Amino acid sequence: MCNSRAAAFLEVLLVSSLIALASAQGSTKWLTLSGNPPLVIARGGFSGIFPDSSLFAYNLAMITSVPDVVMWCDVQLTKDEAGICASDLRLDNSTSIASAFRDKEKTYDVNGVSMKGWFSIDFTLKDLATVYLTQGIGSRSPRFDGNFLPILTAQEVIQQLKPPGLWLNIQHDQFFSQHNLSMRNYVLSTSRSVPVSYISSPEVNFLRSIVTRFNRTRTKLVFRFLARNIVEPSRSQTYDSLSKNLAFIKTFASGILVPKAYIYPVTPENYVQPYSSIVSDAHKIGLEVYASDFVNDQPLSYNYSYDPIEETLHYIDNGVFSVDGLLTDFPITQSEAIDCFAHVGKNNSRQVKFLVISYNGASGDYPSCTDKAYTKAIQDGADVIDCPVQMSKDGVPFCFQSINLMEASNIAQSEFRNRTTTILELRPGPAIFSFSLTWSEVQSLTPQISNPYQAFSLYRNPANRMEGKFVSLSDFLALARNTSLSGVLLRIENATYLAENQGLSVTDAVLDVLSKAGYNNLTTMKVMIQSTNSSVLTKIKGHGNYELVYEVDENIRDAANSTVEDIKSFANSVAVTKMSVLPTNSLYLTMRTNTVAKLQAYKLPVYVQLFSNEFVSQAWDFFSDATVEINSFVTGAGVDGVITDFPRTAATYKRNKCLGLGAKTPAYMTPVGPGSLVELIPPSDLPPAQPPSPVLTDSDVNEPPLPAVVAKAPSPTPGANIPTAPTPRGNGQPKLSAPIFLSVLPVLVASLFLAL
Ligand SMILES: *[C@@H]1O[C@H](CO)[C@@H](O)[C@H](O)[C@H]1NC(C)=O
Ligand SMILES: *[C@@H]1O[C@H](CO)[C@@H](O)[C@H](O)[C@H]1NC(C)=O
Ligand SMILES: *[C@@H]1O[C@H](CO)[C@@H](O)[C@H](O)[C@H]1NC(C)=O
Ligand SMILES: *[C@@H]1O[C@H](CO)[C@@H](O)[C@H](O)[C@H]1NC(C)=O
Ligand SMILES: *[C@@H]1O[C@H](CO)[C@@H](O)[C@H](O)[C@H]1NC(C)=O
Ligand SMILES: *[C@@H]1O[C@H](CO)[C@@H](O)[C@H](O)[C@H]1NC(C)=O
Ligand SMILES: *[C@@H]1O[C@H](CO)[C@@H](O)[C@H](O)[C@H]1NC(C)=O
Ligand SMILES: *[C@@H]1O[C@H](CO)[C@@H](O)[C@H](O)[C@H]1NC(C)=O
Ligand SMILES: *[C@@H]1O[C@H](CO)[C@@H](O)[C@H](O)[C@H]1NC(C)=O
Ligand SMILES: *[C@@H]1O[C@H](CO)[C@@H](O)[C@H](O)[C@H]1NC(C)=O
Ligand SMILES: *[C@@H]1O[C@H](CO)[C@@H](O)[C@H](O)[C@H]1NC(C)=O
Repeated sequence: MCNSRAAAFLEVLLVSSLIALASAQGSTKWLTLSGNPPLVIARGGFSGIFPDSSLFAYNLAMITSVPDVVMWCDVQLTKDEAGICASDLRLDNSTSIASAFRDKEKTYDVNGVSMKGWFSIDFTLKDLATVYLTQGIGSRSPRFDGNFLPILTAQEVIQQLKPPGLWLNIQHDQFFSQHNLSMRNYVLSTSRSVPVSYISSPEVNFLRSIVTRFNRTRTKLVFRFLARNIVEPSRSQTYDSLSKNLAFIKTFASGILVPKAYIYPVTPENYVQPYSSIVSDAHKIGLEVYASDFVNDQPLSYNYSYDPIEETLHYIDNGVFSVDGLLTDFPITQSEAIDCFAHVGKNNSRQVKFLVISYNGASGDYPSCTDKAYTKAIQDGADVIDCPVQMSKDGVPFCFQSINLMEASNIAQSEFRNRTTTILELRPGPAIFSFSLTWSEVQSLTPQISNPYQAFSLYRNPANRMEGKFVSLSDFLALARNTSLSGVLLRIENATYLAENQGLSVTDAVLDVLSKAGYNNLTTMKVMIQSTNSSVLTKIKGHGNYELVYEVDENIRDAANSTVEDIKSFANSVAVTKMSVLPTNSLYLTMRTNTVAKLQAYKLPVYVQLFSNEFVSQAWDFFSDATVEINSFVTGAGVDGVITDFPRTAATYKRNKCLGLGAKTPAYMTPVGPGSLVELIPPSDLPPAQPPSPVLTDSDVNEPPLPAVVAKAPSPTPGANIPTAPTPRGNGQPKLSAPIFLSVLPVLVASLFLAL
């Protein structure tokens, strides 16, 4: 049963047929020991998605990775000396054993530490036939557990999957010996019956006991380093001290496997330090180096801006060395990095046509809408930078993520905190509005970085927390002027309120600044003006050579033809949400809507928001890899632009070498097929069905014209009798993200530092 499900899965997961490609690199010289591309080693298969060491996990790894991907099996011995693949000596966190054998919990001494659980040594292979694999990591989805995936032996992995390579990790030899079970006999007999490419162990004596029995060209022995302060069980030396004697390791191993932090140490504050000499030292004496702990769904170091490809490139394309292999829970990411993103020249021609549009500048890295966020977006290769236009009390348009200045500044702690007001028309609670401060007062505020995913303990770079200065619209346009940008995008909201209640015409102010800055008749750069209110676009229309972008901020699944015709009368393009293109239910993609096809049929380009690197913002189907998500929208759904707070990731994607390959596109650069992952969830564990999003109709789009500006009556100082402002909560949460995720993902984290 499992097999047929898995086979069906093979067919549906990816949209196109899968063609095993030889690496696209060809002639590129790698700085690995052999000069070949680094190896991708899938830890327990694609264990980032499916239960570790399951058929589903191994299958998924094989179909989404480079053709020579190696399958990793953590071998544990059963009472009858069978070798099963399971991530730990104790089976209780990764299988259903605790409910199958309630009274079999035991306590044993493992390398001097007393441990409690259900140990493989207490069960025969036959006992384990009634036990199935489960998701052992709390932040990953347990919805696939009900597939009753059987525990596999290493031989079964080879026989059922025929992987290009098998890596056996023997985490414990001494423990099994103490229980009269011989790992040595096991690996010797196994390697006679099936090809074993690699054997690793953190125990020196184990590797030394088998070294003479293996021919290095058939089976490589690899010494695994554990955390530096741990004492190696067969010698009384720490791994740190062993790492200073690589020549000794060389006597019994052809390579070493080290936690990635051995290569790039990470500070307790989670910043990466310059690389150590371990790879060069090992290569000098002819030892290969494999790096472990590549995981997409834990907080990466701030230096990588939550982009796992960026992290991987540090290890394989830094100009000085490349590791020889990467041990990963998400092998698609390292496959992309090796085959598509490494050795890409700075001026590699762009191969797909779509716009990378920033969201509040590079607000994933710097406080929203500051000079630093915009400069970074330009450096990162954004095509278009954006300014959400707000009006100051003295009528100066400036860029700020919200009309509420509490969202991304220190205003609640500033001398202006007594300007708090409640204007229900604009916001349900108290706020300090842009029009309550003059522009020079706004300039005195300290910006604060947005942390939309702090509920998951995912913070944006604290080193940049208060960096940068706010810019006026005119500063923004000057900053954009002499750059490689292909355009700027100005967002205009709340025009009606400002005209009727504050005596401010935001449309006139924007047109005036554009004209003064010489942007009204530019041919070198496009000027896009975006609004959710058609009356704003209608008002702007005819006042310059502008691309008018209509934003549909609610989720839709289609638009009526007559509505699209209406939109065409006042807009040149449309911005929609991700959910309007690839909707999700509990973060599983359910389908592809008709939205993009319909709008494009009327020659309206479609831009999509919001793309963020934090994995909690992405559907499970994208493997916690922002690049897979972008690729699925761009080459899968055919969108014309992505709006993102991490423009570097999208701009890097745009230059990768695996685009435009047609039928030869490798699997890891093939868009995911919406609905295929959810098909693998047993019916009883499916999330409740959600009603489909509505179709956009004429009444959603038609608006009365903008009112004339009403001169503002002199008013008492706002907020005079509201002495204390609440501390700002949260910062700018993108509309669609937080609530959905909060309901489905438990708060995760923690394990990162344990692993190192
Ligand atoms: C099982 O999970 C619990 C809770 O997450 C953890 O404390 C324990 O160390 C895990 N045991 C194993 C064998 O991984
Ligand atoms: C292992 O075998 C030895 C000798 O046959 C025996 O004395 C010992 O009790 C056994 N140990 C265990 C844990 O079964
Ligand atoms: C190791 O294997 C290779 C290829 O299978 C073979 O050419 C070589 O002679 C073997 N070396 C030894 C020492 O057996
Ligand atoms: C990582 O970021 C920190 C803070 O910005 C910086 O000091 C450090 O040099 C960076 N690390 C590397 C390897 O570039
Ligand atoms: C950039 O392109 C030019 C012309 O195609 C080429 O000569 C040059 O080597 C390239 N530079 C880099 C850094 O790739
Ligand atoms: C832009 O560049 C042109 C020529 O390179 C120069 O004349 C102009 O002053 C620059 N403008 C700004 C705003 O820097
Ligand atoms: C003001 O703009 C925000 C979006 O930026 C919108 O949510 C809100 O409804 C607008 N209020 C009015 C009165 O237009
Ligand atoms: C562009 O606009 C400027 C001022 O707004 C004007 O001086 C100039 O003649 C215009 N150029 C064209 C080609 O229309
Ligand atoms: C909407 O337009 C498309 C093509 O533009 C057409 O195929 C379709 O039949 C139209 N639908 C309706 C309901 O008129
Ligand atoms: C759009 O603007 C018009 C004209 O000012 C206004 O009447 C209408 O309420 C606005 N629509 C929304 C959804 O804010
Ligand atoms: C608001 O606070 C400022 C500085 O703290 C003070 O000068 C001003 O009088 C206060 N205004 C009101 C209305 O309390």
